[in-house]
Amino acid sequence: MATVSFKGATRVYPGTETPAVDKLDLDISDGEFMVLVGPSGSGKSTALRMLAGLEEVNEGSIYIGDRDVTNSPPKERDIAMVFQNYALYPHMSVADNMGFALKMQGVSKDDRAKRVMEAAKLLGLEEYLERKPKALSGGQRQRVAMGRAIVRDPQVFLMDEPLSNLDAKLRVQTRTQIAELQHRLGVTTVYVTHDQIEAMTMGDRVAVLKDGLLQQVDTPLNLYDAPKNLFVAGFMGSPAMNLIEAEITDSGAKIGDYVVPIERSLLAKAGDDKTLMLGVRPEAFHLADEGVPVRVAVVEELGSDAYLYGSAENTTGQQIIARIGTRMHAEKGALVHLAPQPDKLHLFSTSTEQRLTA
Ligand SMILES: Nc1ncnc2c1ncn2[C@@H]1O[C@H](COP(=O)(O)OP(=O)(O)OP(=O)(O)O)[C@@H](O)[C@H]1O
Ligand SMILES: [Mg+2]
Repeated sequence: MATVSFKGATRVYPGTETPAVDKLDLDISDGEFMVLVGPSGSGKSTALRMLAGLEEVNEGSIYIGDRDVTNSPPKERDIAMVFQNYALYPHMSVADNMGFALKMQGVSKDDRAKRVMEAAKLLGLEEYLERKPKALSGGQRQRVAMGRAIVRDPQVFLMDEPLSNLDAKLRVQTRTQIAELQHRLGVTTVYVTHDQIEAMTMGDRVAVLKDGLLQQVDTPLNLYDAPKNLFVAGFMGSPAMNLIEAEITDSGAKIGDYVVPIERSLLAKAGDDKTLMLGVRPEAFHLADEGVPVRVAVVEELGSDAYLYGSAENTTGQQIIARIGTRMHAEKGALVHLAPQPDKLHLFSTSTEQRLTA
């Protein structure tokens, strides 16, 4: 087991100007499950490949434990990687697929069989060891790919979107299995996904990337409760946080003709800006007598929950999503009032996009 540190690590691809990963500083603890999340092209795979030794580091350094591995070849880093296309060898049995890397390392046949069996037991693959990959389901193949990494008993697991080939239902099951397995094995893991729900549910901590720049790294709940900037606020959470540009008044922030009360000291943090960005999660709105007037477009009734979609009146079509009680019978076209829970407001500067805090 080991810690992992990126220290100002930068990758500029040849022939490009802007770094794909820009001065990344990230410390991962021993045994931690760290998720890198961000939209397409944000530099997640590049960061992972830099750690794996598959991509050159142009500036800064990378440590595994107290070893500076910045210039070490991949095979000296003691890591195992699970890719999106886990590309099993089709002509080999599950057991041979799982043991292949060990065979290459010169591990004896008996030792190999023992380690493959241990991993197969962990993954519930014992009865499939003699099968060829084509005779397995997608989820079973995914587990074989995990098995291949586990038998190597590495210091660090690296996983790049390992669930993206699975259908939605299997993805949900498998993500829980991977998270459980990781906790059981206690091997430091860096896991890449563009799916913020995967990030929230799997990570001990989550690092949010955008355009090669680290935006915030924290526990899933802290990211959810206190996003540092507008990007993280909009990216984490589903349905997304409502982000509403509101005019600053003496006593609050005005949306249409409703003023959301906000403390003066907090409003002052907006500096010379005439507006601020008000963030309200869908569950922090509730139907009330007074609040933001919203024209209902549709109510999605899910049985356990209901989501109201509409647009705020007297604004330029500001869309609003609110989680309301189920079976509330809000009619399409009706005018309702949504009040944000005062202690659940998120405020961001319109000019800097950073969170405003008292
Ligand atoms: N070999 C390459 N040469 C030049 N540019 C590259 C190369 N590989 C990636 N890039 C660029 O680097 C940036 C980061 O790419 P990267 O693959 O790390 O993103 P990502 O976050 O993994 O995205 P995705 O979610 O789509 O997999 C992108 O702008 C991409 O176009
Ligand atoms: Mg990628």
